[in-house]
Formats: sequence, C-alpha cells, structure tokens
Amino acid sequence: MKKYDPKVTPWQVAEQDFPKDGALEEKFKFLLRYAILAPSGHNTQPWKFKLQPDGVFIYADYTRRLPVVDPDDRELVIGTGAAIMNLRVAAAHFGYACEVQHQPKANTPELLASARLFESSQTDTELKKLFPAIVQRRTNRIAYEVRSLAEGELERLQELTSGQKAAICIVADKTIQPSIAELVSQGDLIQMSDPVFRQELASWVRSNWTLRGDGIAAYGFGIPGIISWMGPWFMRTFDLGKPQAKKDYQFAKEAAALIIVHGEDTKESLLEVGEMFERFVLTATSMDLQYAFLNQPVEVRDLRTRLQAILGLADLPQLLFRIGYAEPQKRAMPRRPLDAVLIEFSKTGEKEMAL
Ligand SMILES: Cc1cc2nc3c(=O)[nH]c(=O)nc-3n(C[C@H](O)[C@H](O)[C@H](O)COP(=O)(O)O)c2cc1C
Repeated sequence: MKKYDPKVTPWQVAEQDFPKDGALEEKFKFLLRYAILAPSGHNTQPWKFKLQPDGVFIYADYTRRLPVVDPDDRELVIGTGAAIMNLRVAAAHFGYACEVQHQPKANTPELLASARLFESSQTDTELKKLFPAIVQRRTNRIAYEVRSLAEGELERLQELTSGQKAAICIVADKTIQPSIAELVSQGDLIQMSDPVFRQELASWVRSNWTLRGDGIAAYGFGIPGIISWMGPWFMRTFDLGKPQAKKDYQFAKEAAALIIVHGEDTKESLLEVGEMFERFVLTATSMDLQYAFLNQPVEVRDLRTRLQAILGLADLPQLLFRIGYAEPQKRAMPRRPLDAVLIEFSKTGEKEMAL
C-alpha cells in the first residue's frame, strides 16, 4: 500500500470508490472523507464523528482548542460547521439528501449536530455543483491582483448572503475598506506583540516536509524550502507585527471585496456561520476566486466592537476574509486520516440518544 502523505493522500479521494451498493453507514463513512477537507483555525481539525446505521453524530473535539486566539471556542465550532457543509455537498453529489440538525445541548457540550442520509432523486443542484471545489479550495495568503470583481460575480455571491441565524456582508467599497484595513493592521500589532499568541501559532506551524496530519505547513505562509524548518522558531521568537500589519493593511484596502460573516456567539449561530462561510468559499473557488482570512479585528475584543460599528451590524462579526484574483495555491494543507476522527459508538456512553 502507498504511504500516507497527509498533504496529498486525503485530497485524492477516488469518487469511484463510493460504496453505492453498501450500507448507509459505509456511504456516510465515505462522505466523511470530504468533510475532513474543510478548513479550520490553525488547521486543528477540531471535529469528531460517530457513525450510526443511518447517519452520524458530529462532535467538537475540545482537545484541539486554541485557548489564546479562540478562547471561547467560536472558531472551533465554525470550523465544524464548515465540515458539515462539505458533508452536505458530497451527499448531494452522490445522490443523497443530507438532513442536518444543529443540536448543541448543555449537558453534552461536545455534541454539536447530527446528520441523516436519504436516497433522493431531488438533491440540491446548487450544492451538487460545488463538489469539485471541495478538493480545489485552499486558503491562499499571497497578494492578489488589484482589480474589482468581474461583471456579475458580486451578484452571484450576493445570493449566498442570507441565512437564518447568520448572514454575510460583502464590502466592495473603496471608501469603507481603508477603515476595516486599519482595524486589521491594529489587530496584527496587538496579536503579534503577545508572546503567548506567537507561541500558540508557532506550535501549529510545521516544516514544508511535515508528515503530521495537522497544523499549517510553512508554505502556507509563503516560507520556502529549508527555511521552513525554522518557521516555528522564527514566529515564536520575533514580533513580526509591523511588517505583517503593513502587508495586511494593503491586502484589505485593495481587496476586490472583503467578506464578513456575522451572527450571535451561540453554537447554533456559529455552526451556521461555518456552513455559510464554507458554501461561500466553495462557490468562490468554483468561480476561480481566491480567499484568505483577515480575522484579526474579530479576534481582538475591542476591535470587534469597532468593526461591528463600521458595518452597522445588529449582531457580531465572526469571520473576515478577502477575496480576489491570484495564482491558485497549488499545495494543500495536511489532513489526519479519517480513522483518527472517528469515534466508536460505545466510547461516548450516549447509546440512549436517537438521531
Ligand atoms: C474559523 C477559521 C479561522 C481561521 N483563521 C485564520 C486566520 O486568522 N488567519 C489565517 O491566515 N488563516 C486562518 N484560517 C485558515 C486556516 O489556517 C486554514 O483553513 C488551515 O490552515 C487549513 O488550510 P486550508 O484552508 O488551505 O485547507 C482560519 C480558518 C477557519 C476555518
């Protein structure tokens, strides 16, 4: 058998291996191979899945928390929401309707949602179209071309902006972008001057040859070859806030558009934020657009309130990213094998819980 390379193998899911004559549980297991390709903060992949005869329970994995950058586990839940969207898209592609219930409960904080699978002749055609984008999507942190969205693209993306407990705000306005850019650069200075923030980030940065299934390989930050071995040490040791702030200011100011996903800080809302975000970036990917996060003003408390005020939001900004045109990022980030995120039914003691 070929050796598992976490940067390559999980991205090469062979569609023809879908067990179309197998049990629903086997089908779900196959679909989860697409769910785990979802993005997550620092590529922690903070999710777990428990297969059932006709569905799956979806859990937060709090052992993979980021206590410094994400002390309230907001981004952890959002990442899991993104994985749920991939599951829905993959199910639609293979001819199944996937019914998801967001069901966080106070007495089982790990359990976030459950999903069931139904054979259906009327699967969501819009979701189906996004299937190829699951393996093409990348966070792309390079500089983008300075140009506006092409005719019709803004309108197409605008169709994805309203949800029930979350929504998306698209800012393609060069009079507002500088004030958001200012908050991004202030966020960089605040975060990078904090050695504890840098320590946490560095602990998830890997060399370009990493064989670990999580974290950010240094090529994701544009750090080449041999130097990538020193990436974590460099990030931990030096406050690179100033150059980062300058670069991000420019990125935000000149972006074809800035995207803000917003909602309340409840788990239900955050799951929807994650789902809407993933649907948005899969759509952007299918339109040959690139994206990268500028989350700093959402992660620094005071700046978050200021961002909320600039945008006139009644609820809270949850994610901020830029979109635009650029060379695609060819190399994917690592993923752990599916087995690493599956839990046995008997291990959680929730036998009484029905889907
Ligand atoms: C909720 C969430 C928050 C993220 N925050 C940041 C961020 O602040 N800065 C950044 O550069 N990337 C951020 N990322 C991107 C992740 O680092 C990226 O998804 C992960 O490394 C996997 O890479 P991939 O998206 O190319 O698969 C975030 C992703 C998610 C889902």
